[in-house]
Amino acid sequence: MYPDAIATAAARAEKIGIQSLFKADPKRFEAMSFRQDDLLLDLSKTAIDPEALSALIDFARERKVEAKRDAMFAGAKINETEGRSVLHVALRAKPGDGFKADGEPVGDAVQAVRWEMTLFADAIRSGAAHGATGKAFTDVVNIGIGGSDLGPAMATLALAPYHNGPNVHYVSNVDGAHIADTITGLDPETTLFIVASKTFTTVETMTNARTARDWIVAKLGEDAVETHFSAVSTALDQVEAFGISEDRTFGFWDWVGGRYSIWSAIGLPLMIAIGPEKFREFLAGGHEMDEHFRSAPLGENLPILLGLVGWWHRVAMDCPTRAIIPYDQRLSRFPAYLQQLDMESNGKRVGLDGEPVAVSGPVAWGEPGTNGQHAFFQLIHQGTDVVPVEFLAAANAHESEKMTVHQDLLLANCIAQSEALMIGRTLEEARRQLLDGGATPDEAQRIAPHRVFPGERPSVTMLYAQLDPRTLGRLIALYEHRVFVEAQLFGINAFDQWGVELGKELAKNLVPVVTGEQDAGSRDGSTRGLVAAIQTMRRT
Ligand code: F6P
Repeated sequence: MYPDAIATAAARAEKIGIQSLFKADPKRFEAMSFRQDDLLLDLSKTAIDPEALSALIDFARERKVEAKRDAMFAGAKINETEGRSVLHVALRAKPGDGFKADGEPVGDAVQAVRWEMTLFADAIRSGAAHGATGKAFTDVVNIGIGGSDLGPAMATLALAPYHNGPNVHYVSNVDGAHIADTITGLDPETTLFIVASKTFTTVETMTNARTARDWIVAKLGEDAVETHFSAVSTALDQVEAFGISEDRTFGFWDWVGGRYSIWSAIGLPLMIAIGPEKFREFLAGGHEMDEHFRSAPLGENLPILLGLVGWWHRVAMDCPTRAIIPYDQRLSRFPAYLQQLDMESNGKRVGLDGEPVAVSGPVAWGEPGTNGQHAFFQLIHQGTDVVPVEFLAAANAHESEKMTVHQDLLLANCIAQSEALMIGRTLEEARRQLLDGGATPDEAQRIAPHRVFPGERPSVTMLYAQLDPRTLGRLIALYEHRVFVEAQLFGINAFDQWGVELGKELAKNLVPVVTGEQDAGSRDGSTRGLVAAIQTMRRT
């Protein structure tokens, strides 16, 4: 399944662990940390030794990662199961970069939509574009789900210090509570809705959009729909059918995957929040990472290295999950964003050849530190499964100097966690600590095993100067390309998502059963039982 050199390296890693690598090479941090400008990727707290790293880089070559990367940038239809190019990189390119989707230039169209977005965002922010009664928009509600929600929602939170436009809210769940709670307290006269859906058929989004439409119509009349709604979609005819005017509709293209769409018009609510200039800085950050990914040698290439380490932990070290822990509260939605990016891309059971793959991508999960420390870190330190952790942290906060103490504590905690995971605590150390704390020898003997940390648990740390638009752009692009690299190592297509279809179909079929219009007779026993219980509970 993979080269002997990697199998040998994995066996060696199991035996010697991480700490001995630091003993063998006092300069290990220098050798195993990599940079793109101020963005630092520290891989030294993994069990990858120099031979393992070089075997992994050879493996990337063998799996033709560079050729596939170049094919993606050249606009080839690398999304083979859907027959599409994969060109989100063109959305953050410079004018004149010459990107082509399947031979057709895309740069002018990208620039044109960006320009329309810019004019619209400026008009909303300045009040030049206002509601039906002449009042400026104070609140913008984005209605979308998955890639049409997670990216801009995550980024709006991440870039809060740059927020100087109207309030921006996000509604995604078909649970009526989401839209109800969001519009409570909002004034229809000053609220603009953006309906964001690549297909404009997603049931959650269309249901929420209709509810929002009813809310506007009830208060302001049918004519107000034109001024209080805007849309982002590739399905322009469906948008028109909904009643949203063409000059408030922003398009994108089938070569932009939903989970890669934040750089497109799907980023409109973010642009409205932070302004077109900061949005451009965000795009420029993504582009910088693209250039790095395209040109840096494999052994210095951050997305390649992060992909190789991810593959190593998943396949060679057999770890089924990985945790992403930003020690950066404003990245609190980053793990959720990465869950879609990573798991919708690489959660596949067959390879590009249609044959089963031995292993696919890991479960990605996480929460910000330090909160996670007081919740699930117990398992990461002492549970029976090894969970590789990816820590992210900014050297500088945005808060005033008076709050420096917070940032110092945050960073100390971040580094302490990776240190603790690696060094652990032996039985003898635990026993000694207990005795020093006044325990009797019997007590120390009994309690010590519970206070042992096995250590030798791997982590990766990413440090950056500050979470600004450029850095957020670089981080997202880094993870996008990492997912791409891993997919190539697994041999799967990262760009389709057939796995979400079955549930959607069944949900559609079950609606009349839940409402009682159709009998649950032919369904499985559990479904019949649950539907009957819902109907009884609804009646009582
Ligand atoms: O159901 C999965 C999915 O297709 C995602 O890939 C996508 O981001 C999301 O649904 C939303 O789709 P749309 O933008 O078409 O509403």
